[in-house]
Amino acid sequence: MKEFIEGLPKAELHLHIEGTFEPELMFEIAQRNQIKIPYKSVEEIRTAYQFECLQDFLDIYYQGAGVLIKEQDFYDLTWAYLQQCADQNVRHTEIMFDPQTHTERGVAFETVIKGISRACNNAQEKLGVSSLLIMSYLRHLSEEAAFETLKQSLPFKDLITAVGLDSSEKGNPPSKFEKVFAASVEEGYIPLAHAGEEGDADYVWEALDVLKIKRIDHGNNCLQDEALVKEIVKRDLALTVCPLSNTALQVVKDLKDHPLKKMMALGLKATINSDDPAYFGGQVNQNYIDTQAALDLTKDEIFQLAKNSFQYSLLDTNRKEGLIAELEAYYK
Ligand code: HPA
Ligand code: ZN
Repeated sequence: MKEFIEGLPKAELHLHIEGTFEPELMFEIAQRNQIKIPYKSVEEIRTAYQFECLQDFLDIYYQGAGVLIKEQDFYDLTWAYLQQCADQNVRHTEIMFDPQTHTERGVAFETVIKGISRACNNAQEKLGVSSLLIMSYLRHLSEEAAFETLKQSLPFKDLITAVGLDSSEKGNPPSKFEKVFAASVEEGYIPLAHAGEEGDADYVWEALDVLKIKRIDHGNNCLQDEALVKEIVKRDLALTVCPLSNTALQVVKDLKDHPLKKMMALGLKATINSDDPAYFGGQVNQNYIDTQAALDLTKDEIFQLAKNSFQYSLLDTNRKEGLIAELEAYYK
């Protein structure tokens, strides 16, 4: 099964580039930028990564991202992740980045996007891994701040495919961002959002009806509401499920209790993703491997999950069909 999963062509649809920051690279970049971080060793960092909830994690995640200053830093971060993609047979990835985490510290939007996109272009050419970018608004900040980010993104519009919504969910409902999402769609960005990770089903309803999202990041709590599940199935929206993130942030107590199989049985289109692999104990293949073992998923279910990852990606039909054909040939 491990071998089957490792060789499986797949896409990753829920990944925060700042969440791929491995301690070793963090130390290296902190040192060259002469920024102090509150850890003496990689071991000390690993021990700090114990979370009781989303906010516990976010506090540490934003602190880690604070050492990224130069375009080369964003390039190195992204390139390291894309190399992992190639190693794991991730053929396509849709990368979220949080501009505000950097612009709030005085790093220019241009620095962030140029570093990330240069790595993406290089990966397409040298590794055969395709990617696209999702610009995520931080929901703990104001809608006005999101509008400022939207404005800063416009000169680089061609490099960005979609907008997302992440950070502290509780107390920051999707409706807070109604206007900026409408304006983003107006500019040609596809609307996506985290919903139902810690927030209840009504946040998922809002993400659907107010933000008009095309895919749901996490979405676990849609299971609280039967009518909502039916609506998601009817609209054919996929969920980007992140099993090891869910256990690390105690959204799910034990992987054996994970609702992935239930989601699939209800007709929901689920995918498996790593979210913030450097913080949650595993890259995408580890998410597949551990979830398969915990829920006793069959090869056929694994195949279906990988197929969903291509089917519900934001790629054009041509590339989607090519990748699905590659997956089907592998499975056969
Ligand atoms: N949820 C919300 N915001 C985030 C996450 C997450 O899982 N990862 C990075 N930012
Ligand atoms: Zn996420």
